[in-house]
Amino acid sequence: MIKNNNPIGVFDSGVGGLTVMSEINKILPKENFIYFGDTAHLPYGSKSKNMIIELSKKITLFLIKKDVKLIVVACNTASSFALSILQKTFKIPIVGVIKSTSMAAMSASKKNRIGVIGTEGTVNSKSYINELNKISRYNVYQQACPLFVSLIEEGWTENEITNIIIKKYLKPLLNKNIDTLILGCTHYQLLKKILKKNVKNDVVLIDSSKFVVKEVLNVLNKEKMFAKNRDKVFFKFYVSDNPAKFKKLGNQFFKRKIYDVKKINIDAE
Ligand code: DGL
Repeated sequence: MIKNNNPIGVFDSGVGGLTVMSEINKILPKENFIYFGDTAHLPYGSKSKNMIIELSKKITLFLIKKDVKLIVVACNTASSFALSILQKTFKIPIVGVIKSTSMAAMSASKKNRIGVIGTEGTVNSKSYINELNKISRYNVYQQACPLFVSLIEEGWTENEITNIIIKKYLKPLLNKNIDTLILGCTHYQLLKKILKKNVKNDVVLIDSSKFVVKEVLNVLNKEKMFAKNRDKVFFKFYVSDNPAKFKKLGNQFFKRKIYDVKKINIDAE
């Protein structure tokens, strides 16, 4: 039986989803978490829809076996390609980042001109365009930024090369006079400062790691599943490859020290 103090499961292709877990933890500090980073198969951004669905199903099963009470698909690419299938396949509540991020962008945009940056997968899926247009007619302009993830993982979040690449990627969007820019990738939170410098003051940046917590709150509220009166919370980390690299990179994404990371074979679980 699932109990209130059971953990929330969060998954991503690697370290990026730690930004999402960190944001949820800020609002819900009493909750326990299990995080899975599929480091053996990253990047997800350039993989096919079928592959992402297959991997996401395996990870979901793994998290369900760990008795999580709710699953957060932190990865924009997996949310774009796999969320609806996961929700149809499994009984457990599962939320992704596209809906809540789109809602935030809709509230921010005054001119209905929204830019989206993300991985090739997220952009090709048109998940943000579809979500935004469910509510109203928006002019949505997308740009895949495949180089960003590597630059960020290299720690080049403020240097000249990154600035040149940002200018190149953003130019077509800025030419369209967007007033809102969705940072549609787990990693882009770390580029926020330098992205801000490259857009006009009135362009609002919407960071996709920040808003899914609203959906988490809704689910926990509806199911009466908030963790109770806890003094000590736990974070458990699992990866499919290279725990040492995950630990090293993860600290800047999670903004706190990651101690124990276990490597598991998702196919054998
Ligand atoms: N986590 C992915 C996303 O948010 C970015 C990294 C990757 O491509 O695996 O789309």
